[in-house]
Amino acid sequence: MRSEAASPILAFHEELASDIRTGLAGPGQKMIPSRYLYDDLGSALFDAISFLPEYGLTRADERILRTHARDIVGRLPGPITVAELGSGSGRKTRWILEAIARRGSTTYYPIDISRAALTRCALELGQLPSVRVEPIERDYLRGLSEVAARRGKSDRLLLLFLGSTIGNFEPAQARDFIREVGERLKPGDGFLLGTDLLKPVPTLLAAYDDPLGVTAAFNLNLLMHLNRDLDADFDPGSFAHEARWSAAERRIEMHLVVRRAHTVTIRGLDMRIRFEERETIWTESSYKVEREDTARLAKHGGFDCLSQWVDREWPFAESLLLRR
Ligand SMILES: C[S@@+](CC[C@H](N)C(=O)[O-])C[C@H]1O[C@@H](n2cnc3c(N)ncnc32)[C@H](O)[C@@H]1O
Repeated sequence: MRSEAASPILAFHEELASDIRTGLAGPGQKMIPSRYLYDDLGSALFDAISFLPEYGLTRADERILRTHARDIVGRLPGPITVAELGSGSGRKTRWILEAIARRGSTTYYPIDISRAALTRCALELGQLPSVRVEPIERDYLRGLSEVAARRGKSDRLLLLFLGSTIGNFEPAQARDFIREVGERLKPGDGFLLGTDLLKPVPTLLAAYDDPLGVTAAFNLNLLMHLNRDLDADFDPGSFAHEARWSAAERRIEMHLVVRRAHTVTIRGLDMRIRFEERETIWTESSYKVEREDTARLAKHGGFDCLSQWVDREWPFAESLLLRR
């Protein structure tokens, strides 16, 4: 088990070191968890991805939130406190906060490991009348535990997990995660969960490998993050971005493919890693689901699915779950 570091920054660094040792040192498939894609530049590149014509996901999510925010919020009577897991810049969350603020003042806790994203989020949403923004720079569950300790006793919590970030979890991890989220909520709390639905494979592949190369830069920037934080000497030119569709697993995988055999030194971990030509570092999975899958997943956290909204243009669902 990992020891708790004294500060969130130290804890983050310890986890990065441990994840890189585990993910790159072993004999099998090399892997780096997708959370390390989001340093300052990575967060800015993710925002840029959300404007790409090929990446319809964010716009679909925003259409649903813009059109149905009042209906979503209307299902939860009484005063509401809002928290959001992996808020990023929080651009889409405005619609939900505005709908809640019509009923009364509220506090919004964006939770993210990216300080740059939280700064943008506080700028974007801190201007809304009747909304107090209190950013929490933590990983999902530590951040949610903090919200559980701080929340107003008589308020309901509406927890947001938008944009299909749940799709980055392996299915077993997603079930454990929903259970852990459920344990931190109270009966009557709401959980708005975004999921990206199955769609034609060429559409999916284009969304994760755009012709401008923005997604490629987002993926390759992970290596720059390791160079900076772990004093490594990755050469991004020695790797190529690749998006793959796994039909069996119903997921897009992002990989960094080694262009030619070479060795990388990670001085911060006292490691040298040999990369063979064509082997890959697997950096992200994005699972695609059917709309019925969410109600099944919700049961693992003690949630019932109250309602679902689906975008017609880009199959994407927002599901409002209620903690039993
Ligand atoms: C795919 S982006 C989604 C951003 C935004 N919610 C949206 O829908 O556009 C994922 C966000 O989650 C954050 N994130 C990734 N792993 C995290 C973790 N373990 N704990 C907290 N935040 C995390 C990233 O920094 C990033 O802002």
